[in-house]
Amino acid sequence: MTSSADPARIPRHIAIVMDGNGRWAKLRHRPRTFGHNAGRKAVRDVVEGCLRQGVKVLTLFAFSSENWQRPQEEVGALMELFLRALDKEVDELHSNEVRLRFVGDLSAFDNGMRQRMTAAMARTAGNDALHLNVAMNYGGRWDIVQAARKAAESVARGELRAEEIDEALLGHWMSLADLPPLDLFIRTGGECRVSNFLLWQLAYAELHFTDTLWPDFDQACLRSAIEDYARRERRFGRTGEQVAQR
Ligand code: FPP
Repeated sequence: MTSSADPARIPRHIAIVMDGNGRWAKLRHRPRTFGHNAGRKAVRDVVEGCLRQGVKVLTLFAFSSENWQRPQEEVGALMELFLRALDKEVDELHSNEVRLRFVGDLSAFDNGMRQRMTAAMARTAGNDALHLNVAMNYGGRWDIVQAARKAAESVARGELRAEEIDEALLGHWMSLADLPPLDLFIRTGGECRVSNFLLWQLAYAELHFTDTLWPDFDQACLRSAIEDYARRERRFGRTGEQVAQR
């Protein structure tokens, strides 16, 4: 199966807020964790879809800095699920030449989990077919703050003058700065909000919201989001006529 969208219009970088696991489970009279487990299968399918369609970067919001506020039992079950996924999926990701990276404030996770994350990142570091970023304990405001802190530290060390800090320089310290800019943001589950994901990186991304609950989101849904993106005119502040001339 290949993409029906013009290859020149395939987004290079897609980010997804995978929402709706809990409601998907509730509809089936099952606990929320049942939905998260089903969500893991959707992750596998979408990774495969990105590989097939030539998407270079996929960034998934797996656990936000606000998700710690969920019932302790659910947080524990999610951590278990992430560990299981790390143990089970890394071989296949590696054989598909996927580079896995975790983004966010990883200091909040216990040593064991951090070591497994670091090992998975190191093992897949040489891969280039798809860059899969999993945002864990991530918040868009946190990302801006950590970049600002690095800039301030650089000023304090005398390496930089405050007036030299501009968008390009600050952007260099944001998460994912070494990857292609975000083209397409997808949120499943019917809510039309960004929920503190990739705030800086979203500046010129196209937004796609769908009612589909995350466990039902599959390669066909990904294709239709990409086709929707391919129909958009990206102007980056220019007029439609200017864009047509380029
Ligand atoms: C949001 O749905 C989903 C999450 C907070 C967890 C996302 C985790 C997965 C999809 C599991 C697999 C992930 C990886 C990277 C292996 P929700 O619980 O807020 O759903 P609701 O809005 O219906 O309650």
